[in-house]
Amino acid sequence: MRLHHRNISCISFLSKAPYGHLCAKLQEQVWVKTVPGTGMCTDRSEQKNVTLDQILADRRSYRRFRPEYPPEDAIRRIIHAGLLAPFAAAAVGNSTDYFRRFFVMKKGSQSMTAAAPLVMAEIHRMSENLHEEMKNNPRLRERAMGFAQRLAMIKKQGIVPGFGTAPYYIVVAERKGYPPVELQSLAHCMENMWLKATALELGFQLVSITSEMAHNPEFCNILGITPGEWELMGCAIGYPQEILSPSIRPPVEEVTRWLE
Ligand SMILES: Cc1cc2nc3c(=O)[nH]c(=O)nc-3n(C[C@H](O)[C@H](O)[C@H](O)COP(=O)(O)O)c2cc1C
Repeated sequence: MRLHHRNISCISFLSKAPYGHLCAKLQEQVWVKTVPGTGMCTDRSEQKNVTLDQILADRRSYRRFRPEYPPEDAIRRIIHAGLLAPFAAAAVGNSTDYFRRFFVMKKGSQSMTAAAPLVMAEIHRMSENLHEEMKNNPRLRERAMGFAQRLAMIKKQGIVPGFGTAPYYIVVAERKGYPPVELQSLAHCMENMWLKATALELGFQLVSITSEMAHNPEFCNILGITPGEWELMGCAIGYPQEILSPSIRPPVEEVTRWLE
């Protein structure tokens, strides 16, 4: 039933008249593998695009998880998708050690219990530093007010969203190179993992506070990595409490300029 609904929304999305360019562009992709001389698309290429479009639209930030653990095999498949993401070969090319690492923590595990107070302490530090900076910087005060309030709420509730709120918390570490593009590589990795989790019908939440832990010696010690050598990013994964509807974004034409 759910798949059926998604198929329909995907197809009707493609055929909406005002998005002529989008329609043409997507059709171009769908029809890229044509039967020679006929201009007809192969079923396989069309099916690939329909499936990919569905996964892209279904990818959402899930923030409420059921307590059951997804199978470890699913987590391995998600990690494999992360490994397939691009990496900055020119920046880390000379590294003698592999450039990307994954650390899986289960809710309630020893590692998670040890890491929890370190993450909360980092939230307190960030909040205090931000308040100090905002005092003397009106522009920052304006821009960072929302984030400062979010930190205040996390402190009050004593819960870091995504950290210990899902069955799995996964940290990805990317070796630092030059130029320093590790965070971009991590974003590519996370997106691959996110899409794979979506295809496996699992909920996924970015836990971006993880990047602040890259310089925390105790946190790095739990992972078994040297502080300062890696950038970090994290995510929470589990079965979602409820299924969210597909992403809503503005029409392509509204946000795109085709330059001469
Ligand atoms: C760089 C970046 C950091 C983010 N950090 C978090 C985070 O720490 N926690 C969270 O719940 N969502 C985080 N998000 C998810 C966004 O809030 C989310 O993608 C956005 O609200 C759109 O919703 P959607 O993902 O459901 O389409 C982050 C997204 C990006 C791109």
